[in-house]
Amino acid sequence: MDKKRVLSGVQPTGNLHLGNYLGAIRNWVEAQPDYDNYFCVVDLHAITVPHDPKQLAESSLAIAALYLACGIEPTHSTIFIQSHISAHSELAWLLNCVTPLNWLERMIQFKEKARKQGENVSVGLLDYPVLMAADILLYDADLVPVGEDQKQHIELTRDIVIRINDQFGKKKKPVLKLPAPLIREAGARVMSLTDGTKKMSKSDPSEQSRINLLDSPAEITKKIKRCKTDSFKGLEFDNPDRPECHNLLSLYMLLSGQSRDAVAAECAEMGWGQFKPLLADTVVAALEPIQTKYYEIMGDRASLEALLKAGREKAEVSANDVLDRVKTALGFSKPL
Ligand code: AMP
Ligand code: TRP
Repeated sequence: MDKKRVLSGVQPTGNLHLGNYLGAIRNWVEAQPDYDNYFCVVDLHAITVPHDPKQLAESSLAIAALYLACGIEPTHSTIFIQSHISAHSELAWLLNCVTPLNWLERMIQFKEKARKQGENVSVGLLDYPVLMAADILLYDADLVPVGEDQKQHIELTRDIVIRINDQFGKKKKPVLKLPAPLIREAGARVMSLTDGTKKMSKSDPSEQSRINLLDSPAEITKKIKRCKTDSFKGLEFDNPDRPECHNLLSLYMLLSGQSRDAVAAECAEMGWGQFKPLLADTVVAALEPIQTKYYEIMGDRASLEALLKAGREKAEVSANDVLDRVKTALGFSKPL
């Protein structure tokens, strides 16, 4: 039987952090032999908020290198850069014209980001989920592995598919494939180090709030030493009055590879003074091999670029095919 198709992506805005790793990329890596995978660097999404043109290309390469450093393997996965395939922008336009405005105005991420930006909100920021729908639909993806925060965008993608198939599909021949989110409970919401009720995010102005995959051991240790804790006795999961405690124990569990019960038992009697160095050492040890591999890959630009070219060539076949299908269904003439 053919493998199911997976598509996901990360924006090249700033550094990847533990939330991106544990909520998304690590899950892609673990499941990759079971699926036919497409992973893109979504650089078109990165310009929905103000960006630095001097850094965009380099950040995109860096994210692709981090995919590889985290364990994405070209034998199982096609890696490419979104803007290298023009079908993404083109399908987004076609989908725009069937997507009701109020569906986009409801998106939580839009409301949050728009609030932070005040006056300067672009149409692109509002339209962001439609471009994301195009990313997913161009590859006939069955599954989209993401963190919890992206669930609403995938539901919107599904609504768009249902609408297009309903308006333009034939009974037995839908135009677009209906995708589903793949959200693993563990790691789906990694929280900030400065506030255990807020998710760890690239856009938080405080560097102290997140651990980046490329932070040095000294930076990691310092951030964990200073992170927010509480004054309860012992450490425990799931106490609603102790969001920071739950988050830090979860990080320890996920990065040490131990079970929840084992971590709960090991840490039940610990104080923060004992736990923090243990967590710091665990994070440093988990990130060290990723960092070593990352610098190796970035040191061989020619190989990285060749890999992205091959990825683009393969991905383009599916993308152009689906774009054609949609244009035909919508009634466009073929180019003469
Ligand atoms: P972004 O940084 O917005 O491009 O997100 C890339 C991926 O990381 C998406 O699948 C997100 O759902 C996931 N992600 C981002 N922040 C977190 C977080 N704090 N916890 C878990 N997953 C996250
Ligand atoms: N919106 C996603 C995020 O911020 C990134 C993204 C863009 C994406 N296109 C996608 C994720 C397609 C999965 C599938 O995390």
